[in-house]
Amino acid sequence: MRALQSLALRFDGKRLSVLDQTLLPHAEIWVDVTEPRAMIEAIQKLKVRGAPLLGVAAALCLACIAETGASQAQLESDALWLRRARPTAVNLMWALDRLRRVLERGGSKDDLVQEAEHIFLEDVLLCERMSDHGAGLIQGGESILTHCNTGGLATVGIGTALGVIHKAHLQNKHVHVYVDETRPLLQGARLTTWELSKLGIPHTLITDSMAAILMRDGRVSRVLVGADRIAMNGDFANKVGTYGLAVQAHYHGIPFHPVAPYSTVDTRCARGNDIPIEERAASEVLGFGEKPWAPEGTEVFNPAFDVTPVELVTSLVLDRGVISQAELKSGRLAQGV
Ligand code: MRU
Repeated sequence: MRALQSLALRFDGKRLSVLDQTLLPHAEIWVDVTEPRAMIEAIQKLKVRGAPLLGVAAALCLACIAETGASQAQLESDALWLRRARPTAVNLMWALDRLRRVLERGGSKDDLVQEAEHIFLEDVLLCERMSDHGAGLIQGGESILTHCNTGGLATVGIGTALGVIHKAHLQNKHVHVYVDETRPLLQGARLTTWELSKLGIPHTLITDSMAAILMRDGRVSRVLVGADRIAMNGDFANKVGTYGLAVQAHYHGIPFHPVAPYSTVDTRCARGNDIPIEERAASEVLGFGEKPWAPEGTEVFNPAFDVTPVELVTSLVLDRGVISQAELKSGRLAQGV
C-alpha cells in the first residue's frame, strides 16, 4: 500500500482520513474514516462529499477493511452499505463496482487495495484531462459563474468545473468567478470561496437568487458546473439550483457546460428521469444547525439535486473531450465515452 494524499483525503496505507468539510472554512479538522460505519456517517453528513471524491473515499475504505483480513462476505456486505450511503452520485457505485469485480474474479486483498489506489490515481488524471479540454473553451477575461463546489475538495485532483477555472487561471486568462452560495448547505459560499482564495483566483460571492441579474447585465460569459450523474441522452443531475441556472443561461444566450469524468456517465440511465434524487432532512432548509428561522412545523421540500435536460447544455466537457449538444442528442454517449 502506498501513501496517497489530496486536498481532502489522506491515506497512509492503513488509516484513511478526510478533511471534515462541514467545518470549513473556519476549522481544518481531519477525521478518521477507516471503519465503514465512520465512512457512511461522514458521507451522509457531507463531511466528505463531491461525486468523484465519494467514489475514491469509499473504495479506499473498502481497501482498509480488506487490510484487516475481513472475509469476502464481510467485504461484500460493507460494499453494499457504502454504496447506499448517498443515492445520486453514481461515482460512488462506479468505484465500488470496480472493487466488486475484483472480488468476483477471486482477487486477493492486495488486488483489492491496488484497484482502490488505481481509482485514486485515475481521478487525478481525469481531472487534469477534463480541465485541459474545458480550459480550451475559455477566452481571456471571462467572467464564469459556478455552482456548489467542484474543486480539489470534491475530487482527489484539481477538480471538474473548478479544475477548468484553475487551468484557465494558470494559463493567464484573467478569469473572474461568480460563486453561487448554493443553498441549503452553502458549498459555494464555504468551500469554493476557500479554494479560490487559496489559489489566488479573483471571485465574487453571490446568493443563488442573484445569478439572473448578473446574466441580464452581461456580467457572466459562461456557466461551468459539475455533475453527479449523466444519463445516456445527456440529461444530468447536479446540486439543486443547477437546472435553474441552466434555464437562466439559456434565456440570456450564455454558454452552459457540465464538466465531469467518464465515471459520472451512467450507462444504466437512459434519461434524466431515471436518475434517483436524494431528498434530505427538513432541518437543512428550516435553518442552520440549532438555529431554525422558520416557524416550527413548517413543511419543507429538500431535494439535494436536480436534473438539467440536454436541451440546455451547450456542450459537455469530459476527460475524453468536449461533446456538443448535437452530438449528445445523436447518442454520442451510447457509443462509448
Ligand atoms: O451534495 P454535494 O456537495 O456532494 O454535491 C456536489 C455537487 O453537486 C458537485 O457539483 C458534483 O458532485 C460534482 S463535483 C466534482
